[in-house]
Amino acid sequence: MTIQWFPGHMTRAKRQIEEKLKLIDVVFELLDARIPQSSRNPMVDEITGSKPRLILLNKADLADPEVTAEWNRYFRSKGRQSLAIDANAGTGLKEIVAKSKELLQEKIQRQIDKGMKPRPMRALIVGIPNVGKSTLINRIAGRNIAVTGDRPGVTKGQQWIKTGGELELLDTPGILWPKFDDQEAGYRLAATGAIKEQLLHIDEVACFVLRTLVERYGSVLSERYGLGQLPSELPDLQAAVEVLENIGRKRGCLVGGGHVDYEKAAGLLLRDLRAGKLGLMSLEAPERD
Ligand code: G4P
Repeated sequence: MTIQWFPGHMTRAKRQIEEKLKLIDVVFELLDARIPQSSRNPMVDEITGSKPRLILLNKADLADPEVTAEWNRYFRSKGRQSLAIDANAGTGLKEIVAKSKELLQEKIQRQIDKGMKPRPMRALIVGIPNVGKSTLINRIAGRNIAVTGDRPGVTKGQQWIKTGGELELLDTPGILWPKFDDQEAGYRLAATGAIKEQLLHIDEVACFVLRTLVERYGSVLSERYGLGQLPSELPDLQAAVEVLENIGRKRGCLVGGGHVDYEKAAGLLLRDLRAGKLGLMSLEAPERD
């Protein structure tokens, strides 16, 4: 893989989030419900420190609901609160307030004990690019806000988005970097559209993903492209290439001499996957330990 995050990037991103943490009560860590592990920055614990954190599994409308439920159980077993949401449609947003209140229960109680009216909970959204941060901010705000990331040298005044009482949201999200150093995570991120597919070979991405799809959703895949009986799993890359070839043939992705255009076939498969045309699919399940 050609991309590297240099230590300077990491330090700057970390510092920018740390500045924002001083202003807020709770962090909303936005993950892609289809790939919660790969869309998670491994340093998020260190970066957000001891701030209460709510994990939001976004794009749940595209993910396999059973696997999303498994992820919720998994995070709960690790002592974390999580919620499945669809920021595009606004599904699950009401629960965000309820879960935040649970997380901040002690703080709120202290304010009540002092005879104060609890002030709105202040939240910051953090997540990797494309996970849906702007969409969620706009959805919570109920209007379109030009969400921008922090740029070096530009100090932008922080704005609070008021949501009618209990929650206030910082309008500039914290941008985390994805896991560029983990090849499998890179393939999953490219497959879901989180990173530009030009950064990786699209046919490699498709073959990687096909191994998961055949194992978990073989019949759906077979039905969509007319592939007949598929094996229960693809033992190696070559087996995945054969399935991709078959898809290319069925869909007329051909070049001269009747050969399959693998890139075209890969593009078609990935577009279908991202648009949810293959049904609700998750590319990653929690480790069963
Ligand atoms: P970011 O600020 O974290 O970078 O992400 P942003 O909100 O811009 O969202 C990235 C893409 O993800 C957008 O698609 C957005 O509509 C989509 N998205 C966000 N939340 C959800 C969700 O819950 N479900 C689904 N299905 N999609 C969601 P886009 O503007 O069309 O961009 P693209 O698809 O061309 O990349």
